[in-house]
Amino acid sequence: MKNIMVTGGAGFIGSNFVRYMLSKYDDINIVVYDKLTYAGNLDNLEDVSQDMRYKFVRGDIADRNAVAGVLAANRVDAVVNFAAESHVDRSILDPDAFIKTDVMGVYVLLDECRKHRVDRFLQVSTDEVYGTIEEGFFKEGDPLEPNSPYSASKAGGELLVRSYHVTYGMDAVITRGSNTFGPYQYPEKLLPLFITNAIDDQPLPLYGDGMQVRDWLYVEDHCSGIDLVLHKGKAGEAYNLGGENERHNIDVIKQMLAVLGKPESLITLVVDRPGHDRRYALDNAKLHALGWEHSRTFDKALEQTVSWYVENEWWWRKIKSGEFREYYERQYGSRLK
Ligand code: NAD
Ligand code: DAU
Repeated sequence: MKNIMVTGGAGFIGSNFVRYMLSKYDDINIVVYDKLTYAGNLDNLEDVSQDMRYKFVRGDIADRNAVAGVLAANRVDAVVNFAAESHVDRSILDPDAFIKTDVMGVYVLLDECRKHRVDRFLQVSTDEVYGTIEEGFFKEGDPLEPNSPYSASKAGGELLVRSYHVTYGMDAVITRGSNTFGPYQYPEKLLPLFITNAIDDQPLPLYGDGMQVRDWLYVEDHCSGIDLVLHKGKAGEAYNLGGENERHNIDVIKQMLAVLGKPESLITLVVDRPGHDRRYALDNAKLHALGWEHSRTFDKALEQTVSWYVENEWWWRKIKSGEFREYYERQYGSRLK
């Protein structure tokens, strides 16, 4: 696997993955293929932009000709697909783009990979495909019961990957990651939104009672898990990739405020997200069997993440002054009134 195409590589996890792979392997070339939607940002890749082993091509995974061109021109051995519409709240407001990218886009990408005989396809999926769980932990063989347009479209994408393996014998693997946090995360997601709001002493709109449980995974650990499955995963298999750090939302936010030195009075309970999944939890045994371990504790990772947003206002202030304002008003305007 010398030539890797990273689709969606200008987003949060994708850009961290590119950095991770370039620093871990010498003998590798990476072509990032990304549409640069509102969430795609070349600032995320600025520090690798001069690396001779890295190349960027702007394009849509649903554009068959463009995908075919990149696969052929770069003699791609493996595709790691991060490209997606990724935010649950936006999928509730406007599901359209989710179906186009997370289902149709995955289909086009898979189909071209098959035609170009790409050696391995890795689909970056999510724990949300299982739906919610009150007690216990999801295993890879459990049924998929997605509850939001986002998770349903991700489940659709996964099922297409499965079908390409079973029907055409394509070498494909799937990772199901849990709630990821760290540097370069678009500030619509819980942690970067609340950290940057808190820096500005703005309210933190916590949905419902704030007692939902998420399993927090540091982005570098998400990247190392994907790398492991890419190299050692068994074709046709899915792998849970959980943070093993279950926390109630309200506790995560209180801990973040303590690190930042800001008051808990910023927390504002607002009308809940419709269909809000109560708890996600994964059994990671299959991934551990490949040799995966965390790189640091949740406390350490949270401290480092808070520091990164404090030290990198140049990165998030630009974003929060653009398209984001309109979205924020639409999503939170009436909730915060
Ligand atoms: P993100 O929204 O930050 O980035 C998505 C990237 O995909 C952006 O660069 C965007 O421009 C690009 N993109 C969108 N539509 C495209 C298209 N049609 N063609 C080409 N590029 C397109 O997302 P993220 O948080 O980095 O998530 C990356 C992947 O990981 C997604 O597939 C998501 O479902 C999955 N995932 C995310 C998390 C999480 O907590 N963030 C957890 C588990 C899985
Ligand atoms: O579990 C993996 C998934 O995690 C990924 O597949 C998604 O791409 C990613 O966006 C994330 O989905 P969530 O919906 O869990 O993440 P989000 O950051 O939007 O919300 C985390 C929790 O915080 C969730 O319970 C909703 C709550 N929340 C979120 C926002 C944005 C709030 O209470 N208030 C908010 O303003």
